[in-house]
Amino acid sequence: MEPRTLHLLPLFTSLVSLLSLPLPSHSSNDDFVFMGCSQIKYTPNSPYESNLDSVLTSLANSATYSTYNNFTIMGSSPQDVVYGLYQCRGDLSMPDCATCVARAVSQLGSLCSQTCGGALQLQGCFVKYDNDTFLGVEDKTVVLKKCGPSVGYEAERMGRRDAVLGSMGASSGGYRVGGSGDVQGVAQCVGDLSVGECQDCVSEAISRLKTDCGTAVYGDMFLGKCYARYTTAGAHTYAHPNHDSSHDDGEKTFAIIVGLLAGVALIIIFLTFMRKVFEGNGK
Ligand SMILES: *[C@@H]1O[C@H](CO)[C@@H](O)[C@H](O)[C@H]1NC(C)=O
Ligand SMILES: *[C@@H]1O[C@H](CO)[C@@H](O)[C@H](O)[C@H]1NC(C)=O
Repeated sequence: MEPRTLHLLPLFTSLVSLLSLPLPSHSSNDDFVFMGCSQIKYTPNSPYESNLDSVLTSLANSATYSTYNNFTIMGSSPQDVVYGLYQCRGDLSMPDCATCVARAVSQLGSLCSQTCGGALQLQGCFVKYDNDTFLGVEDKTVVLKKCGPSVGYEAERMGRRDAVLGSMGASSGGYRVGGSGDVQGVAQCVGDLSVGECQDCVSEAISRLKTDCGTAVYGDMFLGKCYARYTTAGAHTYAHPNHDSSHDDGEKTFAIIVGLLAGVALIIIFLTFMRKVFEGNGK
């Protein structure tokens, strides 16, 4: 009886992950943006592994009271040193920051299995660790570039887009938002950059958005230590203003999926029940 019920479980979980993927208009703080793992692996049960565990635990704990922090754990030998940091998006509440970082830390453990370095960006937070020091080092490498479909040149809308990006570039601080009509923008630096480095990084991300994404309805430009993004109403991306009609579609999709999953669950319960009944009769 027991094993037969169990083999249905993987099917069920894979269904859940399959169905929960296409929901861009319902993206939340914990949704995946990008990840990367280093090639080099550490030895299981080594001092490096226990130092890494300490760093990851410290990151998750710290996110309950701070939106940014960094940790360095020195091992007894130089090759065991681990560096780590996290950065929450500037508008996240402390509980949401803690939830996001905890989630990122636990996902990194399985996504970057036994690699010396790893990085994960969720919608609401960024977590990175490595044995090579990257703390306080500006990094403008393009990590993720995503441009939405182009709707042809609409001078007015592109003017608003450029104005929003311009105002974000001209403002200060590690977290910047801009909005004009149907255009929304956001930029965020990782907290280890100086004011000047943050400015330099955000400027680079913004100018790349303009040149690389052209007249796209949305654009995401994630560099090593900062990002800039914009979206226009109706674009299927991270931000959805209240008048965005895709919001309702997303809710419908969500309702259908919940219904489907409930149906699948009922069928499984029913089959399990029937098997029990038949096995009972067979005895
Ligand atoms: C990181 O660890 C790898 C594997 O142990 C090692 O080859 C590399 O030199 C280390 N990097 C630093 C900066 O210690
Ligand atoms: C790392 O954190 C310490 C305190 O926890 C802080 O003094 C230091 O400036 C931070 N370093 C960077 C590069 O952010």
